[in-house]
Amino acid sequence: MNSVKVGLLGLGVVGGGTWKVLVQNAEEIARRAGRKIEVVAVAVRNVEKARALVGDQVYVTQDGLEIVRRPDIDIVVELVGGETVAREWVMEAIVQGKHVVTANKALLAKHGNEIFDAAHKKGTMVAFEAAVAGGIPIVKAIREGLTANRIQWLAGIINGTTNYILSEMRLKGLSFNEALADAQRLGYAEADPTFDIEGVDAAHKLSLLASLAFGIPVQFSKVHTEGITTLAKEDIAHAERLSYRIKLLGITRRTSQGIELRVHPTLIPIERLLASVEGAMNAVQVQGDIVGPTLYYGQGAGEMPTASAVVADLVDVTRLQFADPGHQVPHLAFQPGSMADTPVLDM
Ligand code: HSE
Repeated sequence: MNSVKVGLLGLGVVGGGTWKVLVQNAEEIARRAGRKIEVVAVAVRNVEKARALVGDQVYVTQDGLEIVRRPDIDIVVELVGGETVAREWVMEAIVQGKHVVTANKALLAKHGNEIFDAAHKKGTMVAFEAAVAGGIPIVKAIREGLTANRIQWLAGIINGTTNYILSEMRLKGLSFNEALADAQRLGYAEADPTFDIEGVDAAHKLSLLASLAFGIPVQFSKVHTEGITTLAKEDIAHAERLSYRIKLLGITRRTSQGIELRVHPTLIPIERLLASVEGAMNAVQVQGDIVGPTLYYGQGAGEMPTASAVVADLVDVTRLQFADPGHQVPHLAFQPGSMADTPVLDM
C-alpha cells in the first residue's frame, strides 16, 4: 500500500517535534491511520541544519511553493508561523488540491474565513488541532465529543507562556522578565513574545474556539484583549491573600445580545480547578446544555505536546481522505495486529 506523502513547511520547535513523533511512533501511527505517513519534502530557512535531522532521503528546500506544487504530495503541514509566507503557501496548497494541517493560530484567526472558504470550495481539509491549547484535543472535543450540545460558554487558560510566567512569579518569586526569558528558552513563547504577554495569542485561539463552539465565522477583531504586562508580583501576592489566583483567561459565552469574546487577567477563587493549573499547562472548561460542565487539561505549548496534535490531524486527514477502502481502520481499543499477543498481567 502506498504511503501518504507529506510536505512539511517549517522545521522549528513544532516541525522538529512532528518529525520526531512520526519516527518514534511510526508503527502505531500507520496502524491507526490505515496508511504509512511519510514526510518526503521539507521547506526550511536553514537547509544544512534540516538535513542533519531528516537525512538524505527527504527533499529539503527553502521554497515552500515548490513543495505545495509537487503533484506527489498529499498533505501539506504548515509550521512556519506568521501570516505572510504562511498564508501564501497555504492558499496555494489549497489551490493545488492539497489537504492542510496547520498549528498557525495567528494565520487562522486573521485569515481563517478566507482559508476555510477556499478549502470548502476545493473540497480539501484544513485541520488545526495544534493551533489551540497545544496537546489538548480541544478542537476535536468541541467538534466531535460535544457535538450534541448547544454550548453555553467556555473559559480557559489557553496561553502557556503567560500561565508559566504567572506561576513562576508566584511560586519562585521570579521577575516578569526572568520568567518570560525561561518561557522563551523552553520553546513556549511565540517568535514575537508580545503576542503572548499582551493576550493576542490567547485572543487568536479564543476566536477559533468560539467559531467551533458557536458555529460563527472567526472574528478575532471582536475579541476584547488585555495581557499580563501590567501585573506586578504584589498583585499576585495580594490576590493570594484574598484566596484568589490571577490567570489570563479566554472567555466566550452566549448572551441575549450576542456572543461575547474576551481575554484578560481574571481573579479565580483558589478552590476552583482552573486556579490550580500551573506552568505551561492549559485548561479549557466548556459548558454544554446536555453534558453540563466539562474540563480539558494538558500541556498547552512546547515541542512534543504540539507535535502530538499535529500528528493527530495527519492521522485524521489520512483516515478520512486516503485510507484504503479495503483496509479496516481500527476504531476499537482492541486493534488486531502487532499488540494482540501482548501478555496481560494478573494483578
Ligand atoms: N506561545 C504559545 C503559548 C504556544 O505559550 O501558549 C502554543 O500555542
